[in-house]
Parts: sequence; structure tokens; C-alpha cells
Amino acid sequence: MTDAIDEYFAVALELVKSAGNLITDYTSGCKDFKLKSSDIDLVTEIDKKVEETLISGLTAKFPDHKFIGEESAFEGVKCILTDEPTWIIDPVDGTLNFIHGYPSSCISLGLVINKEAVAGIIYNPIVNQLFTAKKGQGAYLNDRQIHVSQVKDVSKALISFEAGTTRDEEKQRIVFENFKMIVTKAHGARTVGSAALNMAMVALGGSDAYFEFGIHAWDIAAGDIIVREAGGVCIDPAGGPFDILSRRVLCASSQELAQELASMLHQYYPERD
Ligand code: IPD
Repeated sequence: MTDAIDEYFAVALELVKSAGNLITDYTSGCKDFKLKSSDIDLVTEIDKKVEETLISGLTAKFPDHKFIGEESAFEGVKCILTDEPTWIIDPVDGTLNFIHGYPSSCISLGLVINKEAVAGIIYNPIVNQLFTAKKGQGAYLNDRQIHVSQVKDVSKALISFEAGTTRDEEKQRIVFENFKMIVTKAHGARTVGSAALNMAMVALGGSDAYFEFGIHAWDIAAGDIIVREAGGVCIDPAGGPFDILSRRVLCASSQELAQELASMLHQYYPERD
């Protein structure tokens, strides 16, 4: 299986790097966008082009592989996760940043086999940050192996989270409650505007935990394996096992930190993918 994953990964990596050129053409922002589920859930032609590039390139090499893609889902393709090799794609994670020219967006590509993420690529071409991981082979930023931090207590943790892309009042109330909790109990709060890059920061040891309610499988598939290969954990924000289709995530540098944070969070349960 390792040889097969290495082969799949090598093909995917070249495609992601080349698709990154579509993003770097717009380092100052991309003002041409459309609305999706709300006035802050946005899509550009670049999102669509990156996703098409990845799906056509991977299909040409691996015709039996399946796909779950953010923009395909928006076009009405159902999110079906089987045991077959499935590429889970967020073509531009941090689309709002991309539109504004805030240099914190990335391509996020995860490979899931038997419902477990086995390879992941998170690539921010604007600042040339390439996070990668393959099952059992560690996590890397460019050529350097990375590890999560040693932090085990919320009181000493730098914690990132996101408000997400909905204006739903109940969801926003929970976001504010959790923000208040972090500001009063943790070392600090961060939000970088991309779920995948938040997870990459935990893998890097730059932040100690990240949680969000309302994300989708494509936001977190690559981050899941990258965090775990860097020595961290991904769980459900209420403390149970991670479920990639649940639209809920909490990742952290250790199980202790993850469980302590989970016990302190106000919970929100969006509709599943
Ligand atoms: C979004 C970003 C954002 C997160 C949202 C995601 P997109 O992804 O990751 O940080 O808060 O939940 O939907 O729409 O930019 O691909």
C-alpha cells in the first residue's frame, strides 16, 4: 500500500504545484467572484479552474479514483465517501482571503482510502509554503520535517478558530462564546481565514490547537493526516472520534490539550456533509 500511496502522492504533488500558478496570478486579489450559501461564502473562476485541473489530471492517471470537491459539491455533485481511493479537494481554501489579496489561502488536497486520510497536501503558493504528509512517513513543510508543539494545557496554548461562512445567528452566538472563553482562558486566539492553514499551523507547532464548526470534508481532509503525521491529534470538538463528514473538527498538539479544550467549548452541530 505504501508504494501505491507514494505513486498517487507524486502525481498529485506535481498537479498541485502547477495549479498553484493559477493562484499566484492573483496575489493582489481577485475581485471577480460570486456568492454561494451566504454573502460571505464566495467562489471565483480560479476555484473552479484549480478543481477541474486536479480532477482531470488525477483521473487521467487513476481512472478508478473517486472525488469529493468543494466546487463540484456546489454544482450539485453528492459527497459520497466509500472505501475506494477518494481525493478530497478544496481548490482555494481561504477564498475570502484570496479575493481580498490577503496572502493566506491554499490548495488543500487529501487522499482518503478506507475512509482514512493517507496523504495530504496543503500548498500556499503565494508565500511558497508546501505542507505534505503520507501515512507513516511524517509531515513536512517544504523539505523540513515538522512536529506539533509540546503544549498540553489550554492556559498555555495559542488557539486558532474561525467564524466560518454563515451569518446564522445561533452559530455566531456560539462563535462569540468560544472566542470569549479562549481570550479569557488561553494564551491567545488566532484566525488565519483558512481551515487547512489553521491545521498546518498546528502541525508546524506554531499554534497548539484549532477548532471549527461548519467546515466541510474538503477543508480538513489534508490537514487531518498532516496534523497526525506531525504527532498531533484530530478529534470531534465534543471529545469523541474525528468524523470527516460531520462538519466539526478539533485538532491539537496532544490528546490532553484536545480533550481539555473540548470540555470547555460551546458546541454547535451543523447538518452533515
Ligand atoms: C473556508 C475557510 C474558512 C472557514 C470556512 C471554510 P473556503 O473555506 O477554510 O477559514 O472558516 O469554514 O468554508 O470557502 O475558503 O474554501
